[in-house]
Amino acid sequence: MACKRGALIVLEGVDKAGKTTQCKKLVQALQQSGSPAEMMRFPDRTTTIGQLISAYLEKKSDLEDHTVHLLFSANRWELVPLIKKKLEQGTTLVVDRYAFSGVAFTSAKPGFSLDWCKNPDVGLPKPDLVMFLKLSPAEAAQRGQFGEERYETSAFQKTVQQKFEHLMNDSSVNWQVIDASKSVDDVHEDITTHSLNTINTAQNLQLGELWK
Ligand SMILES: Nc1ncnc2c1ncn2[C@@H]1O[C@H](COP(=O)(O)OP(=O)(O)O)[C@@H](O)[C@H]1O
Ligand SMILES: [Mg+2]
Repeated sequence: MACKRGALIVLEGVDKAGKTTQCKKLVQALQQSGSPAEMMRFPDRTTTIGQLISAYLEKKSDLEDHTVHLLFSANRWELVPLIKKKLEQGTTLVVDRYAFSGVAFTSAKPGFSLDWCKNPDVGLPKPDLVMFLKLSPAEAAQRGQFGEERYETSAFQKTVQQKFEHLMNDSSVNWQVIDASKSVDDVHEDITTHSLNTINTAQNLQLGELWK
């Protein structure tokens, strides 16, 4: 009998919403309950393309805006064979940011349409669930100072938040908005409930193609 596939679960949200904290906790909880799970993150800074992106984010290099958008997308595509392999083996993938961040960040720059930004990511493995960790800019600010990396300013993050709102109007994607202002444990409980439901339903469904 073929093994049941894992679910592709994505956490999205603006900086400091708690994505990384929650991805780690979710993977741990799933593993402890005997459900195979692994974490992935985008950008994946370990690949050759990821290193170009990392230098750009750390402001060690400058890249033209279209170019950097395509590099972020290429960084997702280069991991697609691995994503598909893991899911087929029955491992659930918990992903810290995906194409939605890519589109929200570039389209927050002047002169970029949402459609242009989405195009390179059309056809990527479609997440079975995208949880958007919703946190107001004021509450995000209380979680500490922004870092030194590119994009880490409150004005830019506000525009990014608006772009996410646009993307969430698309009902072809299984969005769940999570109140990220609650305690780490309460947010974790919400996220775990949605994830377990999704893992159950996804195992009988074919993996979809994003925005196609
Ligand atoms: N629910 C929460 N309540 C309060 N602080 C939180 C919560 N979740 C995360 N944090 C803290 O906020 C900061 C940003 O969390 P992080 O998981 O790195 O966010 P992101 O990956 O979305 O940028 C960290 O210092 C983290 O400990
Ligand atoms: Mg993070």
